[in-house]
Amino acid sequence: MSAVGIVAAAGSGLRLGADRPKALVPLAGRPLVAWSVQTLLDGGVDEVLVAVPTADHDAFAAVLPGGVRLVEGGVTRTASVRAALARVSGEATALLVHDAARPLTPPAVVTRVLDALRSGAPAVVPVLPVVDTTVVVDEAGTVTDAVPRAPLRRVQTPQGFARRVLVEAYDALPGGAELTDDAAVVRAVGIPVRTVAGDERAAKVTVPHDLALAELLVAR
Ligand code: CTP
Ligand code: MG
Repeated sequence: MSAVGIVAAAGSGLRLGADRPKALVPLAGRPLVAWSVQTLLDGGVDEVLVAVPTADHDAFAAVLPGGVRLVEGGVTRTASVRAALARVSGEATALLVHDAARPLTPPAVVTRVLDALRSGAPAVVPVLPVVDTTVVVDEAGTVTDAVPRAPLRRVQTPQGFARRVLVEAYDALPGGAELTDDAAVVRAVGIPVRTVAGDERAAKVTVPHDLALAELLVAR
């Protein structure tokens, strides 16, 4: 099996509100995207492709190891992954799609995803249980129902796919469609998605609090 990692790093990071694209924001002095790329390589991916904002190509090239290829991202995450997919090299048989915004993902998560693919899963996602009581509210914010949480999972990245499965699923997806992750794209064409254990450290940096938490984890 030859695995290529695709890192979605072309977002602007509006909710984080930094002075640069989120993937270039430093964590312990190192840009988020550099952490995420290194995790994929440490976990056993053979090659990495990064989707970046068009205007920031050179800034990304300057902070990534040689051999990592950059691709112009799109206006949505779905468009960015689609652009990277078109540039995957001939040999790859497995693809792992990862958010640049999950810098502290342990390489062991990558390894678990790769192992599941190796054992024949067409699609696999790392997940965590939902531990809080989870409810439904109406428009006024009043609780109307409680959701049984035993079958619920929070989905992380990297998400892994047999190459042909992901390519065919994206081909079947209408041009302007925007889905929040890649497992949703393959589920839309009826592919079963297996789960493996995620990790709390793979949390996504979305708002300033998440970055503060990541800094604390690194400093430990
Ligand atoms: N992403 C991307 N291309 C886009 C939008 C998002 O590659 N057009 C990437 C981001 O760089 C990020 C990942 O998808 O690594 C998850 O998206 P999110 O956390 O929403 O990041 P942003 O879109 O950058 O943040 P925000 O939604 O707050 O603007
Ligand atoms: Mg976004």
